[in-house]
Amino acid sequence: MNKIAQDRVINNEIGVSNGLTDAFARTISYLRLSLTDRCNLRCIYCTPRSADYKHHHKDLLSYEELLRITSLAVDLGIVKVRLTGGEPLVRRDVDFFIKKLTSIPGLNDVRLTTNGVLLEKYARDLYEAGIEKINISLDTLKKGKYQEITGINCFDQVWQGLERILASGFFRIKLNVVALQGINDDEFLDFARLALSHDLQVRFIEYMPIGKVSSRLMNRYISSSAIKDMIRREIGDLEPVAREVMEGPAAVYRLLTDKGSGQNREGIIGFISPISHKFCKNCNRLRLTARGGLRSCLLSDQETDLKSAMRKGASDKTIKDILVQAVINKPREHRLICGRQMNCHGEMSRIGG
Ligand code: 5AD
Ligand code: SF4
Repeated sequence: MNKIAQDRVINNEIGVSNGLTDAFARTISYLRLSLTDRCNLRCIYCTPRSADYKHHHKDLLSYEELLRITSLAVDLGIVKVRLTGGEPLVRRDVDFFIKKLTSIPGLNDVRLTTNGVLLEKYARDLYEAGIEKINISLDTLKKGKYQEITGINCFDQVWQGLERILASGFFRIKLNVVALQGINDDEFLDFARLALSHDLQVRFIEYMPIGKVSSRLMNRYISSSAIKDMIRREIGDLEPVAREVMEGPAAVYRLLTDKGSGQNREGIIGFISPISHKFCKNCNRLRLTARGGLRSCLLSDQETDLKSAMRKGASDKTIKDILVQAVINKPREHRLICGRQMNCHGEMSRIGG
């Protein structure tokens, strides 16, 4: 801990006196739980095609351990949890776990990020468990290209899953599109138009060079502003929408157009720009990897082994202290510079995005 942070802990300015507050006065209220590092896809920027998942089940945090940590985190001030992976829906009995998670007193906001492959199967369970906000990762609208990007031929399955949740009462559905020059830049306009025709928010994410796999695509980076320019030029105006407190790092715009349709339509488009516009100063997140590593920054390799501490019999107080310490040690910002620097070696499928 640096000296300034130390003084502020002593003065009770950071830690838990006022919810979870870090050394830079950020309130930490959002926990991302990676349920598994396994995935049913092999996206080119995430997982090696040869990936095998030979770890033992005991390497993962058990559902009981995840529930215990989450309850303690909620006691400390966490109010929002997102389930990630790998692909969270491939973990056995995930529906059972989600029901227990959404029953934790004080936790009213549980969200999910999924690749959509198993959405049809779980849509009803998710809805009944109270998960209403779902992000689907989808980088192309073309079947063949989907197979090239993910290694698996299941675009139709994902699309059916998306249609199913659009028709089932979920709201604020978001499509996450990782922007990759020369791979899906020919579809950015189609994605933007999808936001006009469907009740969902399309979010373009700047590609981040994280870990060995994704760093191979360093030259595919394209900035959010290049995408915005393209949309403005070809479709219509993008008008900024005020940031909602819990809305996270996306800059959100209303896309207004009458081009080609003869009528006014609008859609919501988000841009997540970790490289061109760092959003670290508003970061409110803690992350727990599937194997029980607690990380206070996606893009720093600093990690605390919470699983070992628990399995050695840590008390609730000790676990809370570890959570508080991670918050206190949260770095001010990441130091990733696309095309030049890759200093995060953890793989995305393990950390959970
Ligand atoms: N850069 C940017 N986004 C990524 N994602 C996975 N790997 C990367 C990367 N290297 C996205 C996924 C998912 C979200 C959690 O992060 O597609 O939508
Ligand atoms: Fe699976 Fe998501 Fe990684 Fe693709 S990006 S391989 S869907 S975890």
